[in-house]
Amino acid sequence: MATLLAMASCGAGQSYTGKWAGSQKTLADGEVDLTILQLTQSGDHVTGTMKTLGFRGPIMGTATNGHLHLMAPWNPQSTLATGELTGKDLHLVWDHRSLVFKPAPAAEDIPMPAYIPPPPLKKVPYNGLAKTPPMGWNSWNLFAEKIDDATVRQIADAMVTSGMRDAGYIYVNIDDTWEGTRDAQGNLRPNHKFPDMKALADYVHSKGLKLGIYSSPGPRTCGDYPGSYGHEKQDAETFAAWGIDYLKYDWCSAGNIYKNDQLQAVYQKMGEALEQTGRPIVFSLCEYGLGHVEKWGPDVGGNLWRTTDDIRDEWASMIGNAHRQMATAPYAGPGHWNDPDMLEIGNGHMTDVEYQTHMSLWSLLAAPLLAGNDIRHMSQATKDILMNREVIAIDQDPLGKQATRIAQTAESETWLKPLAHGGVAVGVINLSDGPKTLTVEAADLKLPGPPTRARNLWTHRDVTFTHGAYSETVPSHGILLLRVGPHAG
Ligand code: GLA
Repeated sequence: MATLLAMASCGAGQSYTGKWAGSQKTLADGEVDLTILQLTQSGDHVTGTMKTLGFRGPIMGTATNGHLHLMAPWNPQSTLATGELTGKDLHLVWDHRSLVFKPAPAAEDIPMPAYIPPPPLKKVPYNGLAKTPPMGWNSWNLFAEKIDDATVRQIADAMVTSGMRDAGYIYVNIDDTWEGTRDAQGNLRPNHKFPDMKALADYVHSKGLKLGIYSSPGPRTCGDYPGSYGHEKQDAETFAAWGIDYLKYDWCSAGNIYKNDQLQAVYQKMGEALEQTGRPIVFSLCEYGLGHVEKWGPDVGGNLWRTTDDIRDEWASMIGNAHRQMATAPYAGPGHWNDPDMLEIGNGHMTDVEYQTHMSLWSLLAAPLLAGNDIRHMSQATKDILMNREVIAIDQDPLGKQATRIAQTAESETWLKPLAHGGVAVGVINLSDGPKTLTVEAADLKLPGPPTRARNLWTHRDVTFTHGAYSETVPSHGILLLRVGPHAG
């Protein structure tokens, strides 16, 4: 009886208050992930929480004329699910799929795995990799869950035929949603989209490229697929045996188990596991800049670490992620890089002028250059942006310094990156809504003498400073990007 009382109240009055159990997620191999919604309705307002093995957080919604509308509080503009009570059940439309949630007993919960204390802190030795920012491609930005063996092979082919590989893009990185289930010994197997990971790695390697993969220190990845929690050593060994060269390790559901002051120890566990495999594997930390990762990233064997939330293919997101690099600039250097997230160039929601600025900024910031578009089908403009070798040379400059912003007005900002052999790269961005004449002042470049040679890296022309300055008119959201100094061009 107690159980019945605790169940969702429904029927008369159409109240959504209560606990509801169902599944809104089916993984690639048909495995369903239990979701529990705990809702409280007050008038037309609904508040509550949502729990899965990989996610627990608040949700909010409305109940107007008996119709339920659920949103995530971090994005109230976008609908999570809509639905109605039918009899005792909650019928929801979630991601265009019709789902049934049943009233759940109060005691029903998502099983939490046992707590595993992270190891005591120690320093993981530097693996000698990523002396310059890693370059390659990653599946997430465009393909998300729609990624499989055949597509990765086609991308690898296109990396060669398009010239991307020869321009320096070497890593072909599979992001989330490749994971299947564990076998009786706990070995993680890929799902049906990736029938033979070793064969795929062999194929990618045969093209002169390297293969990257993705996991999480939590029990679930951000896409709710199995993570490496409690299997770190085993998974590192599996990745090494497959021939994996790069691991992106994404915090996700680890946040339900560990606190932010345990981040370092949790990442160290995988850093040590990778080191013990003896295989050179680039270690990419993805925890959105939590806990000042830039200060301890190298100590856990990290070669790069995300410093921001996920990038979106829009100007405000791109420029916002760049701005958030300022505080971390002193921590970038050969072997360890701040990562403002993958490139959106060629994905279609920014103009080519904005994509030029995106490429320029990431290069000034010594950021990893991981293309996030469909390499198989690139416009000439996208190719020209991604494969601008003079801009790539700024990113890959062996000194490994990250640019700092040296000037800013409401309509423009100037970034300066010192280069090896005494030169600099300088970028002035037009933030205004129309064309604008932008000026680089030689005195701001901190060069030992007057600029001996200067080159515009987008027009590929040498330019001349007159009376200590160079000016050019640039379209809205465009950049004037110069290399100046003894070794320019
Ligand atoms: C997080 C990461 C993304 C991507 C997804 C995959 O959101 O920040 O880059 O890896 O997870 O689920």
